[in-house]
Amino acid sequence: MSGLEIALAGYLAFGQLLPQGQHEIVKHAGLQAIHADGAVTLRLREEGKAVRDENGATVTTVRYKDERYPFEVTRHVKSWSDCDAVETWVEIKHSEDGPVKLLRADSFASAVDVPAKEVGVLSLTGKWAREANVSESKVANGQIVELASKAGTRNAWESNAAMMVSFGPSDEESGQVLGVALEWTGTTSRRIRRSWDGKRTEVFAGVDMTTGPYTLDPGKVFTTPRAVLVWSAKGRGEVSRQFHRWARNHLMPHGRELHPVLLNSWEGSYFSFTEKTLTDMMDGVKEMGGEMFVLDDGWFGRGKYARDDKNQDKTGLGDWYVNEEKLPRGLGYLADEAARRGLKFGLWVEPEMVNTRSWLAEEHPEWLLREEKRPLALGRGGTQLVLDYTNPAVRDRIFSDLDKVYSSIPSLAYIKWDSNQNIVNPGSTFLPADRQPNLWYDYTIGLYDLLARFQAKRPHVMVQACASGGGHMDFGFLRYADEFWTSDDTDPYMRVFIQWGASQFYPACAMACHVTASPNHQTKRETPLKYRFDVAMCGRMGFELHPKDLKPDEIEFAKRAVSDYKRIRPTVQQGDLYRLASPYENPYSALMYVNGERGTGNGERGTGNGERGPDAVVFVLGLKDNGEKPVSLNLTGLAENANCKISEINAADPHGAALEGRNLRLTLRGPYDSAVFVLTRID
Ligand code: DGJ
Repeated sequence: MSGLEIALAGYLAFGQLLPQGQHEIVKHAGLQAIHADGAVTLRLREEGKAVRDENGATVTTVRYKDERYPFEVTRHVKSWSDCDAVETWVEIKHSEDGPVKLLRADSFASAVDVPAKEVGVLSLTGKWAREANVSESKVANGQIVELASKAGTRNAWESNAAMMVSFGPSDEESGQVLGVALEWTGTTSRRIRRSWDGKRTEVFAGVDMTTGPYTLDPGKVFTTPRAVLVWSAKGRGEVSRQFHRWARNHLMPHGRELHPVLLNSWEGSYFSFTEKTLTDMMDGVKEMGGEMFVLDDGWFGRGKYARDDKNQDKTGLGDWYVNEEKLPRGLGYLADEAARRGLKFGLWVEPEMVNTRSWLAEEHPEWLLREEKRPLALGRGGTQLVLDYTNPAVRDRIFSDLDKVYSSIPSLAYIKWDSNQNIVNPGSTFLPADRQPNLWYDYTIGLYDLLARFQAKRPHVMVQACASGGGHMDFGFLRYADEFWTSDDTDPYMRVFIQWGASQFYPACAMACHVTASPNHQTKRETPLKYRFDVAMCGRMGFELHPKDLKPDEIEFAKRAVSDYKRIRPTVQQGDLYRLASPYENPYSALMYVNGERGTGNGERGTGNGERGPDAVVFVLGLKDNGEKPVSLNLTGLAENANCKISEINAADPHGAALEGRNLRLTLRGPYDSAVFVLTRID
C-alpha cells in the first residue's frame, strides 16, 4: 500500500471500536457528535461504495450509517491522472428527532501507520508582515501536536491551513512525507497524535470547532472543507511540486494562464491621489513594459464618509460607489485610460468589511457581526468591523452594489479582494441564540457563496486574495482567485523568507511579488533595485510604487528586467520548483524552476498561453550580512546526464558562474547581491 492509500484507509469517529482484541473505543476522533437524545458515540458501518468520473477525475464515495441512529456519513476521495494529489471530504447528515451537535467534523482523520522511528511536522506561522515562517518540530511518543488558527478571517497568519508530516527524517530530496492542506479560509485545526510506543500515528485536519459545537438540524447536510493530500517518498520538494501542479491544473480558475505584470497603486500613492496621479502611474508602468494597472484602496465612499486623504481608513467600507469628488469621471474613464496605454485595469475592494462611519452601517446596524450585550471591539482605523456573511441579505446587498461598480468598468480584468479585520465580535443577529457558534463555519460558507456569484458572472476576471497581506494564503480562497498578496512586507530581504515559506505549498504563479521603493516602507531597509527585481521575479512579478520616483537609469533597468521576466515567466509561473538552498540554513537562498520533468524541456503539459520558457531558471539570492560568499549548488532539478549552457540575465555586471554537469558555482559579492541564470539544454 502506498502512503496515500494507508492515509485514506479509514476515518476515525468517536465511539468506533478499536480493531479486534482491543476493548477501548476511539476517543481521539475526527468526528464527534452529541445525538439529539444526548448519546455521544458513533458506530458507523460501511453501507456502500461508488466510483464515478467527474470531468476526467475519479471520485470514490463511501457511505456509512450508524448502527442505531439515523446518522449518515459520506466520504469522498477525488483523484486525477496528471498529479499525485487527492482531495478528500466528508458529508454529514441525520434525521434524528432534533438537532445534533457536532463537536468535531474533520475533513481527514486517519491512522497513518507508516513505520518510522520519528515523526516530524512542518507548518507555516506568522503575523502581519511576517507571514509564512517555516516552523518545524518532532511529535514525540504520547504527544498530540495541534496547529490551529482561530482568527475567523486572515486565518493564514496564525497557522497556515497546510502542513507536512514526515515519517522518518526528511529533506527536500528524500524522506517519506504526507502533505495535508485544507481548502478553507476559515478557522482550522490540524493535529498529529503519536501513541505511547510510537507505533501508531494519527493525522487530523478540519475546521476548528473549539469556538463552540456546530448545531446540525435534521435533513441538513454539513459538508467539511476539502483536504488535499500528497504523499511523497522522495522528500518535501516533491510534496510541494505536487501541490503546485494540482493547484494550477485543478483549483485556480486561471491556473494555466500566464499572470500579468501589474502595477498596484497602494505604496505609490496610498489614499492620496487624483485622476492625474493614476494616469501618471499608468504612463510609468506602460513605459516599463507592464501589462495592467490596479487601483487600490481610496476610490469609494461619499460625503462625510468618503474614503479620502483626510478620513483614510476610518470611513467608507460598505459604501461601494465611486467617490466622485476624487474621481469625477468615474472608474470607466480610468479603465479607458489604461486601455489607451495597452494596459488592463483592476480594482481593490474589501467586501467582507464595514466601517462604523459609513452609510451602510447607519442604514443596517444589524448587519454587523457583534454580541448584543458587549461593547464593540473596533478594528483598523478604530472603526472597522466584519459584516455578517451568514445573512444572505447582506451578501445580496454587497453583490448588487459591487456588481453595479463592476458594470461601470466593462473592461474590468482583475479584482484585489482585501480583508483587514479578524472576527473579534463573534455574534450574529441573523443566527438564532442556540446557533451562535455556527457563525465561524457559516461565515466562510457565506464568503464562498459570494465569491462564487462574482466568479459566475465574470469568469474571466482574475482575483487576488489579500487579507492585510498574506492572511488569505490558502487553497480555499484559491478556488476563486488566481493569486494571493503574499505579504504587506515588500522588503526583498524579508520576502526571501516569506516566499520560501509560501512555496512549501503554494505555486509561484499564485504568489504576488512586487518591486517597491527603497528604503522599504515597512522596514526602512535600503536594497539595490536589481535585488528587488530578482526577488520579485521568483513569483508573479509586479510593481508597487510611483514610477515617477524612479530615476531615468532605474527606468531603463526596469524595462530590461520586465522584458527578461516575460521571457522566463512561463518557466517560473508554470514550471516545477526545486528549492536548492534554504535561507534558514545558508547565507543565501537558491531556487530552480524547471520547464517540464527534470529539465527534459518537453514542457510536461505545455506552458501558460502557449508560450515556452527556458528549460530552467536558477535564482541565487544573498542575504543581508554576507561578504564575499562562494556558492556551490547541486541543480537537483536537472536530469543526471543533462548538458546545459548557462547565461545570466538581469545583470549589468555578471557573476562569471561556472556550470559543470549539475554543479553551479559562483561568488556572491556582498549583502543583497543576487543572480539569475537561464539554462538551455544542448544535448
Ligand atoms: C492591506 C493590503 O494588504 C494592502 O496591500 C492595501 O491594499 C491596504 N490594505 C489598503 O487598505
